Amino acid sequence: MERKRWYKDMVFYQIWPRSFKDGNGDGMGDLWGVLEKLDYIKSLGCDGIWFSPIYPSPGADCGYDIADYMDIAPEFGGMEAFKKVLDGVHERGMKLVMDLVVNHTSDEHEWFQKSRKRIEPYTDYYIWRPAKPNGKLPNNWDSNFEGKAWTFDEERGEYYLHLFAVKQPDLNMDNPLVREEVKKILRFWLDMGVDGFREDVITYISKAEGLPDDHLFPIYKGMPKYNHGPHIHEYLAEFKRDVFDHYDCFTLAEAPLVWPKQALKYIDEEKGQLDMMIQFQCQCADCLFTDYIPMKFSLVRMKKAFSDWQYKLSGRAWNMLYLENHDHPRIISRYGSEKFREESGKTLAVSYLFQQGTPFLYQGQEIGMLNWKPEDAEMYEDVQTRYNYAHSNLNKSKEERLHKMWRSSRDSARTPMQWDSTENAGFTTGKPWFYVNPNYTEINVAAQEENPDSLLNFYRKAIKLRKSLESVRFGNYKEYYRLNSKLYVYSRESENEKILAVCSFSEKEEKIKIPSGFDIAKAELILCNYSEPGEKLLPYESRVYLWKK
Ligand code: GLC
Ligand code: CA
Repeated sequence: MERKRWYKDMVFYQIWPRSFKDGNGDGMGDLWGVLEKLDYIKSLGCDGIWFSPIYPSPGADCGYDIADYMDIAPEFGGMEAFKKVLDGVHERGMKLVMDLVVNHTSDEHEWFQKSRKRIEPYTDYYIWRPAKPNGKLPNNWDSNFEGKAWTFDEERGEYYLHLFAVKQPDLNMDNPLVREEVKKILRFWLDMGVDGFREDVITYISKAEGLPDDHLFPIYKGMPKYNHGPHIHEYLAEFKRDVFDHYDCFTLAEAPLVWPKQALKYIDEEKGQLDMMIQFQCQCADCLFTDYIPMKFSLVRMKKAFSDWQYKLSGRAWNMLYLENHDHPRIISRYGSEKFREESGKTLAVSYLFQQGTPFLYQGQEIGMLNWKPEDAEMYEDVQTRYNYAHSNLNKSKEERLHKMWRSSRDSARTPMQWDSTENAGFTTGKPWFYVNPNYTEINVAAQEENPDSLLNFYRKAIKLRKSLESVRFGNYKEYYRLNSKLYVYSRESENEKILAVCSFSEKEEKIKIPSGFDIAKAELILCNYSEPGEKLLPYESRVYLWKK
């Protein structure tokens, strides 16, 4: 089947289901809740939904530890609710994308239970190794979440590899039977009518032959040996050839540590095996590789990341654009300003929504939710946060340690969606499974619905504009004043029009800068986050100008 590119015209909304909306009052978000909110999502101008995992799972990593790939967790409403959501999505002309997590399973998955007992054909479904003769671990790799990447299983008498939590054993993708299982899962959902997959840490699935020690990298020791491993393109091509090519669907690959040149090997429109890629460089303007090594926010770094991907993919592959997801703290708390929450939220929106690519919004981003700041580390739920808190900055004061967590924790962005100012932010009528950010009385959907100038309505306006402009969909991208640390200025130009976006990231007034060749006197100002734009840019002001040729 010829590959369709419908996703190029879309805007996606990511649902992290536990915290989106509770439909049955048990305190946990679910698909009944999603059903209630489909019109809301559509009203944003979003026409696609990506679900973080909703399969049965013990929840060691909030669903990214899957115990059954071909079912929907009962607490989310089971298959019955899922089919209603799928129909509801399609009736509205929208698309639905599932999360495919096949680098690892839950240790409670039947495959693992049988593998540890050496029951065929499951014996080699996972990556098992005996201890070394000197009693040492099979190699020196670290897991991404909980210390070393190896855990000893008493029952089997061997170590298993887990690149994430102890309860997330890695599958052995070199085993053709495992790849067949993956294809079965894909066909199961595609046959049901699902429109595509977001593929979780998919670049990790092929490990270096012999699982050699890694000596190079001080953080994430081992990553160079399993990220973009030896058979990765072969396996992905196999999935494409045997499954994706037979459906009208699309694939979005999550790829930690990837640069545009390497990304093209995966997503080049002619030769790639996948359609789009979630890169992490845009998340590293205030940290070094990971949120856990924070640095001061640098607009120049943010711009460089954006522009690199825009320039280098241009004409060859399609960008996935995002500022937030369930793995990073809230963007206003990081790249914007909590003091200028509305203004900086809007400037952040303009800084990414008009780039080339398919934008994704994460629940709550559209109303400018901020980092959750618990007063006690015990309140954290996330496995990675808990491990990091217990093992780092031990010589610092409690205040400093908590402060670091607010800056880095995934839980900062996992609190329940703030729907209104009633108890529990209108998220549930029961007791919420997780803490609600106390700022919900001010920051919530209902309040912003009523205000035409709210961030929520600004997102609606910006998305609508994006969809109506040929230059934004297909035009060339160009950045100006690259080293300016206060302003992000970029243009998009197509045959019949061009636009210029000017975004201030300053808490003070700034002199506006317009590149030569752009005659403001002849432009139409189509978007601005202040009602009366003047000579100077006000704090976090952003403007979009349009020229018709
Ligand atoms: C991805 C997911 C993250 C999860 C991890 C392990 O990075 O986005 O939430 O914890 O993979 O599956
Ligand atoms: Ca529920």
